[in-house]
Amino acid sequence: MLGVSKKARRFTESVIREMTRLCRQSGAVNLAQGFPDFPAPQEIKDAACRAIAGDVNQYAITWGASSLRQAIAAKQKRSYGMDVDEEREIAVTCGATEAMIASILAIVDPGDEVVVFEPFYENYGPDAILAGAVPRFVALRPPDWTFDPGELAAAFTDRTRAIILNTPNNPTGKVFTRDELESIATLCRKWDVVALSDEIYEHITYDGAEHVPIATLPGMADRTVTINALSKTYSVTGWRVGWAIASPELTSGIRKVHDFLTVGAAAPLQEAGAVALGFPDRYYQTLAADYLVRRDLLLSGLRGVGFQCEAPRGAYYILADASSLGCRDDVAFARRLIDMVGVGAVPGSSFFSRPELGRTLLRFAFPKTAATLNEAVARLQRGLAH
Ligand SMILES: Cc1ncc(COP(=O)(O)O)c(C=O)c1O
Repeated sequence: MLGVSKKARRFTESVIREMTRLCRQSGAVNLAQGFPDFPAPQEIKDAACRAIAGDVNQYAITWGASSLRQAIAAKQKRSYGMDVDEEREIAVTCGATEAMIASILAIVDPGDEVVVFEPFYENYGPDAILAGAVPRFVALRPPDWTFDPGELAAAFTDRTRAIILNTPNNPTGKVFTRDELESIATLCRKWDVVALSDEIYEHITYDGAEHVPIATLPGMADRTVTINALSKTYSVTGWRVGWAIASPELTSGIRKVHDFLTVGAAAPLQEAGAVALGFPDRYYQTLAADYLVRRDLLLSGLRGVGFQCEAPRGAYYILADASSLGCRDDVAFARRLIDMVGVGAVPGSSFFSRPELGRTLLRFAFPKTAATLNEAVARLQRGLAH
């Protein structure tokens, strides 16, 4: 009998994509998947058109067009004072997704342990499976989604090779504080562990929360892979351009894995990315301010119909507790929400290693126009409020 590999058998269909399909079938407002329903900035679109018209249509250098790597290095310097050598310390990939899997495959051997905070972005589990890594989960707990330092310390052993970090965080909206990052960094140094830091929401923070790249902490530059992408900052999730920044030694491994996985990211879109990374500070301030308005609109809508939720301090999701609305089974509740109310969300269990930890939670994404969010809130009010 022909069949799929043991690895593939361990994957379940992405719940997020399942919810998106159900939303399409029934015409529900899709707050499940985290992509914008508003246009990308005109300048980045014009730059992409110019690159295609100018015949930047063949393979770029496999580890990234020189213009984009220069722009990434300049941006890290401008935003965080980080010195990055674009010749030896950057690998451009197909989105942050490929940056993470290429980094794990380059750094982690089968049987090595990887520490993962939960709830987690749903790709990290399959990433660990593909690399043959053994995930060790450490809980982030509401209301501020902090971790117990003792529990974190206990997750590190001499088999630990890496820790996966995502700040600002999907799905909790947590922005790790400098103190929290210091305690993670101390363990990384003690156990000789690499931090794989997914910072794709770096520019989407609220209420004065400060994004701190863990690579900027003492002794961490050489043991961090900083992962990012154009996707969220420039509202181009479909372009598939991301990157990993790491020491020359780690980068050379990541570049090799990347070369054999995908050869390279779309060449003209890399040129457009180089233009976007040079946007002035005002662009990033407006981005965050616009997201704040969207956050507050959805937050008050959800609270108004009985969800319990903390205001996220970063990223663009609200992880809402629906117990007081009678939710005991998040997947059934999410399906009912699509069918009966016309609003799509992601069942909370998809963000946990043990589904029971997310049984009363739903994640709502708000990278949407005010019209979309208002329609979602109106439907929730009609369908849920008593
Ligand atoms: C934390 C996190 N990392 C990575 C990604 C995917 O990034 P990309 O589209 O650049 O592959 C997402 C998308 O939702 C995300 O939330």
